[in-house]
Amino acid sequence: MGGFLTRAVLAAAFALAPLSAFAQQPMIIKFSHVVAEGTPKGQAALKFKEVAEKLLPGKVKVEVYPNSQLFGDAKEIEALLLGDVHFVAPSLSKFQKFTKVLQVYDLPFMFPNMEAVDKFQDGKVGQAMLKSMEKKGLLGLGYWHNGLKQLSANKPLLVPEDAKGLKFRVQSSDVLVAQFQAVGANPQKLAFSEVYQALQTGAVDGQENTWSNIYSQKYQEVQSDFTESNHGLIDYMVVTNAKWWNGLPKDIKEGLTKAMKEATAVNNKVADKLNQDAKAKVAASNAKIHELTPAQRKQWQEAMKPVWKKFEKDIGANVIKAAQDVGNSS
Ligand code: LMR
Repeated sequence: MGGFLTRAVLAAAFALAPLSAFAQQPMIIKFSHVVAEGTPKGQAALKFKEVAEKLLPGKVKVEVYPNSQLFGDAKEIEALLLGDVHFVAPSLSKFQKFTKVLQVYDLPFMFPNMEAVDKFQDGKVGQAMLKSMEKKGLLGLGYWHNGLKQLSANKPLLVPEDAKGLKFRVQSSDVLVAQFQAVGANPQKLAFSEVYQALQTGAVDGQENTWSNIYSQKYQEVQSDFTESNHGLIDYMVVTNAKWWNGLPKDIKEGLTKAMKEATAVNNKVADKLNQDAKAKVAASNAKIHELTPAQRKQWQEAMKPVWKKFEKDIGANVIKAAQDVGNSS
């Protein structure tokens, strides 16, 4: 009898072993993005991993995939909705299929500086936008900054006339298409991972991006002239799969929320410095950087301004006004 019991206990223990071993496996959480690790988003994603694993030891393992390694622009949101990845942080220009309100961030010369962006995002309208795609399965957990965009081509771009007839790469945003059409240029939507080669082969003549993206993608090797135009914004929404997030155990959700908060703080602290450092490196390369005079800047502003009216209906006049109000007070 004793022998039988021992055998039964042992058998039960054996049967349970794989289960308990399974229970101890940390949850694998995948974070995919398209930029280099040394950029504001790259750094923030690594911080998120570090803090999440510290707060939830043995419970989660965060795998960060930079540089479109796992999914590129076209696929990352789709993969999130399918549950193949748990966090992505696309630029706000890449959500057009899901909501039109975020197009306010693409309007040329909408935000004079990052302080205005912060104020807008912290306000009622900016916060409501985080939930604007929930019905479509996407939940925004916060905004991460990159910075303001600069123009480049293989000739100086000082007034709108200089851009006429040139092909510019744009992100998948109709506002950005309209922005380049407004100055007589030809916009081409292209995934981020394809831009360097398109510039190198001449498939496109120019581009717009932040200094940190420009330098980390080595655009200074294939563009001779950069203009510090600060004409638009690259900013991100960190999104997760709403269903997956709402089904997480309480402790994990709390830990990840805290980690996201810390990563956001780090992102917003380092973004400006990373862009300034990158600008200095571009300046030290063979490429030239041009500053605009106030009169030149005004010409770009006036040429691109009709884009606001064109998208007012889609975005909502009240949303544009809210953004404009913070801009005027920053
Ligand atoms: C781009 O496609 O130019 C950027 O949105 C890339 C990024 O995520 O910063």
